Amino acid sequence: MIESVGILGAGKLGLVLARLALKAGFKVNIAGSGSPDEISLSMSVLAPGAVAMTQADVIKQSDVIILALPLGKYKTIAVDGLDDKLVIDAMNYWWEVDGIRPDLDDVHKSTSEIIRDFLPTNRVVKAFSHMGYHDLLDGSRPANSSDRKAIALAGDNRDDVALVEEFIDKFGFDPVYIGALQEGIRLQPGSNLFGANPTKKELLELLNHFSDSDLGKRLA
Ligand SMILES: NC(=O)c1ccc[n+]([C@@H]2O[C@H](COP(=O)([O-])OP(=O)(O)OC[C@H]3O[C@@H](n4cnc5c(N)ncnc54)[C@H](OP(=O)(O)O)[C@@H]3O)[C@@H](O)[C@H]2O)c1
Repeated sequence: MIESVGILGAGKLGLVLARLALKAGFKVNIAGSGSPDEISLSMSVLAPGAVAMTQADVIKQSDVIILALPLGKYKTIAVDGLDDKLVIDAMNYWWEVDGIRPDLDDVHKSTSEIIRDFLPTNRVVKAFSHMGYHDLLDGSRPANSSDRKAIALAGDNRDDVALVEEFIDKFGFDPVYIGALQEGIRLQPGSNLFGANPTKKELLELLNHFSDSDLGKRLA
């Protein structure tokens, strides 16, 4: 059972996810790239209740880890202690931030597979990556609300996917499983879903519109 949520990245997305996790009743541990002192004041104001710690302590003290840092910095993740922990990858390759990185732009491999290959755990699920942080902040709704929004997720292990589905629901969104981690490519920048703020019905329609010709454009 997930009781504590660890977030690596205390920027726009990390902060919103911290707020949603607190609202859902989880204990929240969060780290930026540096010392906890650098973020503790902003956390106490913007996500009161979230505990600022080092990356190592976040990993040690949390049941699930969310990656909310710039993808281009993934090699700075303190991987010790991740072992068999469940990791939710919310990162995207965004060249304006990450620079031109051919290693992150493989059209045959989702960026979450790159992360899975780097981490000492195989338990990686991609989620919370396609919706903008402001839509995440505003969109949380109780189950069965007519205007509830949906979050797509991709992962290889059905049990881990089920845990993350439950998690997304508790955050106030309808989970929509789209397939294995490789399918995470359908959520990345350049896809129909990236940047979308859809209901479940709209999300399913967007997925259906992701045709082979879209993939062809990406592969061209
Ligand atoms: N913004 C969105 O709407 C949105 C939505 C979905 C997904 N995403 C994805 O989420 C990720 C973060 O985006 P963002 O907009 O939140 O960026 P951001 O505002 O620039 O925040 C990034 C945070 O990550 C921290 N960081 C860097 N390396 C770290 C490490 N090794 N451990 C822990 N924290 C580290 C940074 O700390 P310093 O400032 O000290 O470097 C900063 O606090 C990106 O991959 C992005 O594609 C963003």
